[in-house]
Formats: sequence, C-alpha cells, structure tokens
Amino acid sequence: MWSIGLNCRISTKVTSIFVTFAYLIMLSSTCGATPTLDTPIIDPKSRFHPVYSREGMVVSQEIIASRIGANILALGGNAVDAAVATGFALAVSLPRAGNLAGGGFMLIHLTKRNETIALDFREVAPAQASRDMFLDLNGDVDNELARSSIKSSGVPGTVAGFLHAHESYGRLPLRQVIQPAIDLASKGIVVSVDLAHSIISRANRLRRNPATENYYFKSSGAFYQPGDRFIQKDLADTIRRIGVDGHAGFYEKKTAKLIVEQMKHSGGLITLDDLKNYRVVERKPICVYYQDKNICSMPPPSSGGVHLLQMLNILEDWDLDTLGHNSAAYIHRLVESMRRAYADRSAYLGDPDFYDVPVSQILDKRYAARLRKEIDLSKASLSSDVYPGLAIDPDRLLRNLNKPVKESVETTHFSTRDKWGNTTSTTTTLNFSFGSGISVAGAGFLLNNEMDDFSAKPGSPNGYGLIGGVANEIQPGKRPLSAMTPVIVFDSTGDPLMATGSPGGSTIISVVLQVILNILEFDMGIAEATAAARIHHQWLPDRVGYEKGISIDTLNILRNMGHSMDEAPRVLGSTQTVSKGALGGSIGASDTRRDGAGAAPQN
Ligand code: DON
Repeated sequence: MWSIGLNCRISTKVTSIFVTFAYLIMLSSTCGATPTLDTPIIDPKSRFHPVYSREGMVVSQEIIASRIGANILALGGNAVDAAVATGFALAVSLPRAGNLAGGGFMLIHLTKRNETIALDFREVAPAQASRDMFLDLNGDVDNELARSSIKSSGVPGTVAGFLHAHESYGRLPLRQVIQPAIDLASKGIVVSVDLAHSIISRANRLRRNPATENYYFKSSGAFYQPGDRFIQKDLADTIRRIGVDGHAGFYEKKTAKLIVEQMKHSGGLITLDDLKNYRVVERKPICVYYQDKNICSMPPPSSGGVHLLQMLNILEDWDLDTLGHNSAAYIHRLVESMRRAYADRSAYLGDPDFYDVPVSQILDKRYAARLRKEIDLSKASLSSDVYPGLAIDPDRLLRNLNKPVKESVETTHFSTRDKWGNTTSTTTTLNFSFGSGISVAGAGFLLNNEMDDFSAKPGSPNGYGLIGGVANEIQPGKRPLSAMTPVIVFDSTGDPLMATGSPGGSTIISVVLQVILNILEFDMGIAEATAAARIHHQWLPDRVGYEKGISIDTLNILRNMGHSMDEAPRVLGSTQTVSKGALGGSIGASDTRRDGAGAAPQN
C-alpha cells in the first residue's frame, strides 16, 4: 500500500509494512534522519497535510487562540498552560462558543507521571432547579423556557475547570497564562468573516437581551463588519479579576454579584451559594483497546466517551479497511453501530453522581458482540425495532421524533501537545451558538443554556433531537448529560499518539468515531482524516445525515438497503487534532469546515 509520506501518519497496518519499509529507506536520505516503522511520516499522495513542529502544537477553532497557546509553549509552558491560555483566548475571540460561563471537559495526559486525568467542569443545575421546571400547564416541554430563558443556564464550570487544570498541572504563573486573553479583549480583535457571520445569523436572538445587544452590535445598532476592531472592555475586566483573585475572582466578589444581579433581573435561579459551591470533579478516564491502541475518553456525565468506545467495540471485529472508506458496506456498519449506541444513551446515561450508569456493562466486549450479531449486514434495521439493549422498558422513550432538528449549534474543541509529549484534549460549550443569548450586564460574557441538555421530560427531544429518561432528569446539583467527546489515543507502547474532539451537539460522538477510524483503519494522516466526508445517525429520528462527498452510487445502495439518507443541513463537526509528529515533534490538523480554525506550531 503506497500510502506513506508527508502526512505524518500514525498507523502502520501490517498489510502495508513491507512496502512502507522499502519506501522509508528511500525517504530517509531526504528526511535527514532514519525513521523507524513506528515513525509517523509524510504522505506524498495525500491532498491534505498537517502543520508540523519540532516541539509543541496547539490546534483550535481560532488561529488567534492557537497562536496564543503556542506562544505559551514557547515561553516554557506545558500543554496544560497552553490549553488554559487557548481556552481563555477563545472566550474572547469566539464568543459563539468559547466561554467563561459555560462548561466542558478536559483530558490531560502527563507523560512523566504516565497518568491521564479527566476533568469534569460541566455546568450544574442550580439548587432551586426542579424536575419539571420546563413543563407548561399541559405537561409539555416549553422549549423557549428550556433553551432561551435565563432559567436555561446551569451554574458555569469553565473558569473553575481552567483554573483547576492550571493550578494542578500547569507550570507558568496564572497571570502570564491569562494575560493574552485580557489583551485580546481590551485592545480588541479584528472582526473575522466568521465572527461577523455568526452575529448576523443569530441577530434576532442576540438583540432580545439589552446587554447582549450592547456587547455584540455597534452603538448605532449596526453589525460589526469583517475588518472592524471589536473591543470587549467589560470582558477584559472580568478576566483581569480572575487573574487577580483566581477562583474567587469569578465565583465570588464582583463577578458573582453581577451574575446574581442578572439572575434577579431576568428571573434566573443561580444564587451566590450556587456559584460558591461549584466544584470541578477529577474523574478517571474510560478507556478500551481498539486492536492495539488504547482509546481514552471522558466518562459520564459525558455520554461521548461511553458511546464512542461502545461503537469501536462493535466495529472492531469487522475488517473495515477491506470494505473501503465510505463504501456502502462500511457506512452501513457505522450506522447500525450508532443506532444501538444512541438507543442505549437515551436510557442509561446521566450524571454518575445521581444515577448508577452501567458503564462497564455498556463497554463489555461481550455486549458489543451481542449487538454486532443483531446487525443484518444486508439491510437497515428500523430504529423503532431497536431498543436500549440492557433490558429496560423502552416504551416510555418512543415518541413522534421524526422531525428534523433545526437548532443551529456551537461548541468548541482544542488540543495541545508540548515538547515533552504531555497532551490535552478539551471540549467546552455554551450549548447553542451564543448560549442562552443572555449576557451578564457589566461582566461582558454570555450565559449558557446547558439546562436543555437535561431530559426535561422522558421521551421529549432536546435541541439536538436527543431524548433521555430518568437517568438524565433535572435534579438540583446534577450535571446534564453531554455528548462532548474529548479523546486521547495511545499507541501500543502507551505513549499518547493523538488527541482530538469536536463540536456538533449529538453529532460529536459519531464525528470523533469517524476521524479515529479514518486514521486507524484507513491509514489516513490526521489532515486527510479530518477532511473526509462524514455521516451521522442517532437512532431517532430514523435518518442518516451525510456530507457532500459520499457518492450517489453509495447513497443508492444504502437507500436500497433501507436507510433513509438525507444531506445534512450543515457540515458535521469541526475536529481539532494534535498528534505525535515525525521524529518526535508534533503535528496538528484543524478542520476546514468552519472558517478561522488553525494549527499553531511552537516556534
Ligand atoms: O454538551 C453537549 O453535548 C452539548 N451542549 C454540546 C453542544 C454542541 O456541541 C453545539 N455545537 N456545535
């Protein structure tokens, strides 16, 4: 298989070893060092190439934020410092998704300690939240209340998460790590096409809240245009207070008071006590072997890790590479695995501190074998015939859910790697684009609408068409179920090979799955694996979304097998990937699906 080359691939399949070996000998004279069979190398046949660095790398949705992170590496920071600097910078430069008042998950692998940590800084339901808080008098879910009111905001976790990561695992002083974000906000950023567009496309929602209108529109009410300077003074002051007082600079004192004033003003539930009591949870990552690679991801309250690993377990036994990338036979197996995993998600997943999530049963290879056996390789199953597989009454879950989901969505992922091999993988979110659309007046940031990720009523879909039950019902202090799937893949020697993740609501898990399989099964480098067309299925509705790039012949075969294939209304996900690079450096690949993303090498 002539697939080696500039693309710094990270998979060497047995079938390609002999040709690879011969080709490596040819390459070694031009590379200036002698690669080994395990050495990620370069692919002259790929149309997509990653960014290379001899040292560290930061990849995020905003090249400005990536460069800030890479500069922190150059100043002697480690991958965690770089992640925290990037995260704060995204809160300034990517207001639709980067955030201070959202939540997220960060996986950290520390090479020296050979330890991987899963930080959970997901939002929590305020103490005054209650199970039926989003139901109207008829007992139906009031989507406006659940998605666009201030009651949709959970107690924010992002700042606590970043500070915890920095304090526990960073090297540089907080002020140094946080200063670039303060500068971005106070001196202003040049408005990008993406930023201008994101505001225009959400204008109605953003104008409903006076503070938001004040922050994201010119004083005349006009839109910011690409090339304008966009200054966020209140936000700069808020980040400065975090730099001075750390955790208390956000969860107590002035910022906390401003949040609570906004709550009182707009009928929200978050109190000073809720803020003061917010805690980051360090969890053990969940990992399974896919062939000889150990894949580690986030445990609940993310569903992402559990179902990514479950799908890999189901798929592992088929020779996927021989089926051909994005062939009908391959896509059929993907869809049927997704159908079963998302069915399980609806029943069994929730905050593990409130609900006994059967993680080990779902990840049991024998359970995967049982599900795989159910799959008819010649025709599609009907989602209405597929139930959560661990024996539970599914009837209460099934409703009329065949409506397409219209809500537009935003979240953001960033990955970092330093010259010591320490690696981070972080996904953070406000939930929808610009969260609830409500800003904290005087503090310069938006509030999340993450409470919609709870199951407001068993069987009723959230903003991504995902349904849930008791496991994910609202309770005070509980964390809503998430699909965010930060992941780190380890090679057969236990070294971190790559980190990736994506936004995309319910599609996150399937997007991350495909990028990993593109690399491990189809011998693609990380840039090519990122660019390849994707599909998505989530059990209900019983449809498969696909991106442009799947051939009509393939679609016809899949339709003949019984799959309902629809072109996805928007691209699927936006992955940001770092990997161990050629001869010990790092490589990075950002997704071209959304404008402005970039991989920044440490120079
Ligand atoms: O945590 C979750 O699963 C969702 N709140 C993520 C939302 C999202 O990815 C929107 N992005 N495009």
